Amino acid sequence: MAQATAPLNGDQKTGALSNGKNTLTSTENRTGRQNGVPIEMETIRAMDLRQIRVNPDDFGLMTYDPAFMNTAACKSKITFIDGDKGILRYRGYPIEQLAEKSNFLETAYLIIYGELPRKSQYEDWVNDVMMHTLIHENIKKFVDGFHYDAHPMGMLISSVAALSTFYTDAKNIFDPQSRQLQIFRLVGKMPTLAAFAFRHSVGRPYVYPDNEMSYAGNFLSMLFKMTELKYKVHPVLEHALDVLFILHADHEQNCSASAMRSVGSSHVDPYSATTAAAAALYGPLHGGANEAVLVMLDEIGNKNNVPGFIASVKEGKGKLMGFGHRVYKNYDPRAKVIKKLADEVFEVTGRSPKLDIALELERIALEDEYFIKRKLYPNVDFYSGLIYQAMGFPVEMFPVLFAIGRTPGWVSQWQEMLLDQEQKIARPRQIYMGHGVRDYVMMGKRDEPKKGKNGA
Ligand code: ACO
Repeated sequence: MAQATAPLNGDQKTGALSNGKNTLTSTENRTGRQNGVPIEMETIRAMDLRQIRVNPDDFGLMTYDPAFMNTAACKSKITFIDGDKGILRYRGYPIEQLAEKSNFLETAYLIIYGELPRKSQYEDWVNDVMMHTLIHENIKKFVDGFHYDAHPMGMLISSVAALSTFYTDAKNIFDPQSRQLQIFRLVGKMPTLAAFAFRHSVGRPYVYPDNEMSYAGNFLSMLFKMTELKYKVHPVLEHALDVLFILHADHEQNCSASAMRSVGSSHVDPYSATTAAAAALYGPLHGGANEAVLVMLDEIGNKNNVPGFIASVKEGKGKLMGFGHRVYKNYDPRAKVIKKLADEVFEVTGRSPKLDIALELERIALEDEYFIKRKLYPNVDFYSGLIYQAMGFPVEMFPVLFAIGRTPGWVSQWQEMLLDQEQKIARPRQIYMGHGVRDYVMMGKRDEPKKGKNGA
């Protein structure tokens, strides 16, 4: 039973309703009035707090929760995370099983539609997605317009936004068929937009999709094909990329999924909402940490320098990048899968010397009191950058790869939000800390700062 310990202007305690449900009960000191707020699913409804009045003329008690540290903004059936136990499941299926037995498009279907597809459903889904990999020729011209050194993630974000101008039917968000079509298009076109952004940044001609290939294989072909008639993809690398997409496919209410839901709640088309989600992902606190891991490994330079580096982290001189997570206080289950995958990739590409540094960092950190006490374990980004780099991706492409993998999660979160009767336009409250009312002052009467000798 939850226990409240910090009375605001009254005493809060837990009790029980006549129907046996737990309540959070508070007593208003001023009036002696008792309020019972039901506790369901270990949660109270913030709106129920409105019945508690701190002052006679206020509209009721609010919660203050910057960064949503302790606020559930939705009910969801998509992804389950238990950060203490290191558990991640999509629609109930453990991530380890999906990474080993499924493939990205099947997992995408599971995330979006809630169940693993039957054979015919799977074949139709793959066909529908792959049929929508081509992009309008004008989008190509749009990508052409970017500067030669434009960041591929900036190009991806802009070109996804541009899609909304090509598919105006996407505005019909309450038409299930229209939603379905936009989902095919988004999942299908994301790799093409990403590959075109990459080819533009390296000054190579665009490669059109080859729908006879797998989702990951086609993406690799659009990225790396040169003059050969058909790109021959290495099966180990194709599989590794596919698994990496699975591992990134959803992560419940993270920053970009929240952006997708929040912007989508205004009933804008899904391309515009996906643009917001991708922009959220671009930030170094979200999709950019794997790049920081590579920079850190470069700086360490040699396995022998690891103890010195760990000591400097403990002295507060920096962070061990790729370690720690807001939710996981245990080994990130995705990091375990990636570590195994790294061995398979390095068999093909040759072992990255940075891997030895990473392994040594992990070994020492996991035995060290500082990291044990703070429950700091490797997260998904600790090894993923090493794999991407070994596969030939420049670091700027890392968040782009993340965006492709995360697209099924975004569209699934978006659709769940739209169909949830409890959802409305997202609109948080604030605690106003500014001036009270004051009268407008004409410009000539406003105080000018006094100037020093040299006008400074
Ligand atoms: N290295 C060293 N110390 C760390 C690290 C780290 N990587 N992460 C956290 N700590 C320490 C903090 O300094 C703090 O110590 P203190 O209690 O002595 O002050 C304690 O551990 C708790 O950390 P918080 O900062 O409170 O944890 P929070 O949940 O706010 O941060 C975060 C999580 C941002 C992921 C953090 O662990 C971090 O910066 N890690 C490195 C960056 C990184 O790898 N990010 C990728 C996350 S995965 C993803 O987004 C896909």
